[in-house]
Amino acid sequence: MRKNIVAGNWKMNTTLQEGIQLANDVNEALKGVDAKCDVVICVPFTHLASVNAVIDPEKLGLGAENCADHLKGAYTGEVSAPMVASTGAKYVILGHSERRQYYGETSETLKEKVKLALAEGLTPIFCIGEVLEERENGTYNDVVKAQIEEALFDLSADDFKKIVLAYEPVWAIGTGKTATDEQAQDMHAHIRSTIAGKYGKEVADEISILYGGSCKPGNAKGLFAQPDIDGGLIGGAALDAESFMGIVTAF
Ligand code: PGA
Repeated sequence: MRKNIVAGNWKMNTTLQEGIQLANDVNEALKGVDAKCDVVICVPFTHLASVNAVIDPEKLGLGAENCADHLKGAYTGEVSAPMVASTGAKYVILGHSERRQYYGETSETLKEKVKLALAEGLTPIFCIGEVLEERENGTYNDVVKAQIEEALFDLSADDFKKIVLAYEPVWAIGTGKTATDEQAQDMHAHIRSTIAGKYGKEVADEISILYGGSCKPGNAKGLFAQPDIDGGLIGGAALDAESFMGIVTAF
């Protein structure tokens, strides 16, 4: 059966020293807890190797927040999937709405990133979600379906099963405005039926679908109680070990 996962997305926050401290704090806090979910922190590239050295990989997974759409070569400033994997990271967030919005990432580039990540044995945490206008004009189900189809539906069923999805309504990210339990559940069920339509129910039932967007200790329980919500991708609340643990223990 599919896994429950709580993953932190630190975004462009913390210096290296602050990041090591935060990773240490989360790692320590997990020692006293029988977590009912896999716990992951996705951190800036510069922090990966150092954070990997201080965490217990049995209790805490490590991920990057992006990777390049090329394997290697003359792409100044980019970080490849093999580079990420060589730090000890096991996950990589791909297609975050901030990458789509500010760095022009398209389904075409994301398709390449997903393939390169999978080839390195990394688990992509693939983000999808509509903007406010699409929520309000009622096209959100079609938008999210298209995001999945365009970037992921040329994968084999075996490869598709290696992906974790994160539904993050853009209007809820960093705004303090969470989707209601019902809005989130409806979308997660829609995502699962979209997957079932292509790969069959068995594959769809195996995929972990996380919710992201102003998820906090106070609302995580209600969200995680929904049948199609398998955890969270956590931004702001992941920057403090106590609030992150408040979400981890919501399972
Ligand atoms: P937030 O961010 O929890 O701060 O809303 C979530 C995300 O962007 O992954």
